[in-house]
Amino acid sequence: MTKRKGYRDWRWLALWWHHFLLLWNITCGQTRYSIPEELKQGSVVGNLARDLGLGLSEIFDRKLRVASEAGEQYFTVDAGKGELVVNDRIDREALCGQSVSCVLPLQVVIEDPLQLFRVEVEIQDINDNAPRFPSNDITLEIAESTSLGVRFPLESAIDPDVGSNSLKSYTLSKDECFNIRIKDVAGGRKVPELILGKLLDREKKAVHKLLLTALDGGNPVRSGTAQILIKVLDINDNVPAFEKQLYKVSVSEDAAEGALIVQTKATDVDDGQNGEIEYSFGAHTSDIVLSIFAIDPISGTIFLKGKLDFETTSNYELDVIAKDKGTPRMEGHCTVNVDVLDVNDNAPDIILTSQPKPVREDSPNGTVVALLSAKDLDSGDNGKVTLLLPKKSQFALKPSFSHNYALVTNSVLDRENVSQYNIEITAVDAGSPSLFSKKMIPVSIIDVNDNPPVFTQSSYNVYLKENNVPGSILHSVSASDLDLGDNAKISYSILDSKVQDVSVSSYVYINSDNGSIYSMHSFDYEKLKVFQIQVQAKDQGSPSLSSNATVHVFILDQNDNAPAVIYPSSAALGSLSHQRMPRSAKAGHLVTKVTAVDADSGHNAWISYRLAEATDASLFTVNLYTGEVRTKRAVSEQDDSSQRLLIEIKDDGEPVQSSTVTVSILLEDGLHEPILDLRHKLSEPSRKTGRITLYLILSLASVSVLSLVTLLILAVKCIRSSRSSGSCCMRRSDCDDYKNPNRNLQIQLNTDGPIKYVEVLGGDMLSQSQSFRSCMSPMSEYSDFTLIKPSSTTDFKEVISVLDASLPDSTWTFESQQVSKTIH
Ligand SMILES: *[C@@H]1O[C@H](CO)[C@@H](O)[C@H](O)[C@H]1NC(C)=O
Ligand SMILES: *[C@@H]1O[C@H](CO)[C@@H](O)[C@H](O)[C@H]1NC(C)=O
Ligand SMILES: *[C@@H]1O[C@H](CO)[C@@H](O)[C@H](O)[C@H]1NC(C)=O
Ligand SMILES: *[C@@H]1O[C@H](CO)[C@@H](O)[C@H](O)[C@H]1NC(C)=O
Repeated sequence: MTKRKGYRDWRWLALWWHHFLLLWNITCGQTRYSIPEELKQGSVVGNLARDLGLGLSEIFDRKLRVASEAGEQYFTVDAGKGELVVNDRIDREALCGQSVSCVLPLQVVIEDPLQLFRVEVEIQDINDNAPRFPSNDITLEIAESTSLGVRFPLESAIDPDVGSNSLKSYTLSKDECFNIRIKDVAGGRKVPELILGKLLDREKKAVHKLLLTALDGGNPVRSGTAQILIKVLDINDNVPAFEKQLYKVSVSEDAAEGALIVQTKATDVDDGQNGEIEYSFGAHTSDIVLSIFAIDPISGTIFLKGKLDFETTSNYELDVIAKDKGTPRMEGHCTVNVDVLDVNDNAPDIILTSQPKPVREDSPNGTVVALLSAKDLDSGDNGKVTLLLPKKSQFALKPSFSHNYALVTNSVLDRENVSQYNIEITAVDAGSPSLFSKKMIPVSIIDVNDNPPVFTQSSYNVYLKENNVPGSILHSVSASDLDLGDNAKISYSILDSKVQDVSVSSYVYINSDNGSIYSMHSFDYEKLKVFQIQVQAKDQGSPSLSSNATVHVFILDQNDNAPAVIYPSSAALGSLSHQRMPRSAKAGHLVTKVTAVDADSGHNAWISYRLAEATDASLFTVNLYTGEVRTKRAVSEQDDSSQRLLIEIKDDGEPVQSSTVTVSILLEDGLHEPILDLRHKLSEPSRKTGRITLYLILSLASVSVLSLVTLLILAVKCIRSSRSSGSCCMRRSDCDDYKNPNRNLQIQLNTDGPIKYVEVLGGDMLSQSQSFRSCMSPMSEYSDFTLIKPSSTTDFKEVISVLDASLPDSTWTFESQQVSKTIH
């Protein structure tokens, strides 16, 4: 602008000079004024009229005009005073720019006659312009590494004024790092330069703000300022620094995945990327550590990635690096020490150091069954293990050296009670909360032959009919043994004894494997009624054990004998046996008595007499039970003197056996003596019989009283026991097998003169009570006693001995009440 104006000025000046030279001929003299620029309008420049030698009137009359050679009319003439006054603002800088002299040429023209005057107005500079910078804000970016003395040229300020009013100097606000120097360049321009006087440190001061002032030489001095903003560019000259060199942390081993371990923090005072920190583990960190820990590259947080295990590693040392992103990258280091705290996370373990051994049931106290040890991976209290056995255990734990134990027996063992133990051992540690584990130790008990075989009964009763077939099974005995294997394997045998001077082994044989006893003999009741066998059961243990049982074999009578007639004597049987009787005999006269015996017993020997045939059946009668032959009526004269009677004698067996006897009777007149004789003879035994009957009644009465007392006791017992279980009285009659007479005990006293035998026909030896009935024959027909007494062999023998003493001349039958019922 200034330049273009200057150029126009020059053209204008050339033109002006051309006119000036042209006018020089016309005008004479030169009028020159000098005024400062920027005068107010109307300010007087000079008295033009006087200076040109013109009168005031001429000015008006001759039409004086002032014409500027340039277009602009800066001046006018005051017609009244003839003064040249300022018409417009005059800016020297606009008119003449930077040129030192600034003259405005004026043409003053007057007419009539036309005269041309030349007037020059010199415009003097005043300091009306302050120095000005092209831009008020100057921004510089300087790296902090820049070396000392480096210059930074700045734009110079411009002051349009000239001369002393023009730009003279620069000043800079105070700054520790920067100084200013003015450099003069060609054309007299002054260029300010910044010089680095001290090294920059962005970290201390990142921005420097300076004020550059340009001063001119006017009076008063005018100035212009520019703001200089210096941004210090960062250089990666700082290492990231951790807050601590060593971080110490403790983490419990059960910390969950993702748990915070520690927050590391490093700072880098550098700016931007140079201060941007990236965290990582050191280059030589092992893979194991990397699998357990992780670090957040941005925040520096170390957290748990895997699982901690105190038992594997109790301490970790982590090398952590903080690296900035500058160029080159700089790094700082720190160490994180992680102490793993033990947690009771391992249950104790029971280890069998030797397999459990089977133990004999007779093992003494303290026999070692198994060796075991306890282990816990934890440390301290968490690893302190106690072993426990259940209370009341048959076993005990005996501690040996460190954590080793022996499992020993601690009481008497009995395989027959418990053959296999499952010993539960509990291991408990002392942690809080404590952990435990259990282990089952199976211990088997080895059998020892400590139990003898036991028979199902201590004595067996066997009933065997006489005339049995040899080789049939008599009975089976059996024994059991609580032991095991060979200790329980039983073999049966018969202990040798004598039966009627013959070894029992010739009568019976036993199957040693299963205890079946076989008869090897046909027994005759009339010869052998009862015998005993001692049976032994023996196990195959070592040493073996045995036990004994008694088998009572009762031979049962069969009706294999017919009644045998004793009187009339068998010698006379062939011929007729003659009995005599007087004709004068009255009714009821005892003619004779037939007597027979039967070798069998019981019903088989119960003899009855019957008149089978007679010459005159109306005259004689035979007593069914006694065999007495009596007259029915008085003998008359018409009766034949010779009478024959056929008497049949039968037993009560099944099948019935019978025999007959023929009695011939002679009726004689005047026969007295023999009858008296006979009566006398008969009275003797009859008296004796009466005495015996008395004894018998006495003894029976005493037995009856005894039985009655027992019955009462039993009755009371039965009533009591019948409340809880079945009545024993009822059961007695329920169980009695009517069809099987073996179940009933019969005692038969068969006497014919001297006692022939006392029979024990059978009976339930073990039964509490037994009913007996005595049928007394022939003394008192149909006179029954019912005896109820406790049945035991010994008691029974007493009864027999009592009876034995009385020796009744009759047949006694004690038998079951039920059997006797059938008789009636
Ligand atoms: C075995 O020993 C324990 C103590 O050691 C004792 O209490 C127990 O009675 C003993 N048993 C036998 C059968 O001796
Ligand atoms: C059998 O064993 C049980 C428990 O083991 C015990 O209580 C009982 O007394 C034992 N019986 C005999 C007869 O030893
Ligand atoms: C015992 O063995 C014999 C022969 O093998 C057999 O006849 C008998 O029935 C057996 N006895 C028992 C009680 O099993
Ligand atoms: C069995 O009887 C035999 C012979 O009488 C005897 O030697 C043995 O001791 C008895 N055994 C038992 C266990 O009673």
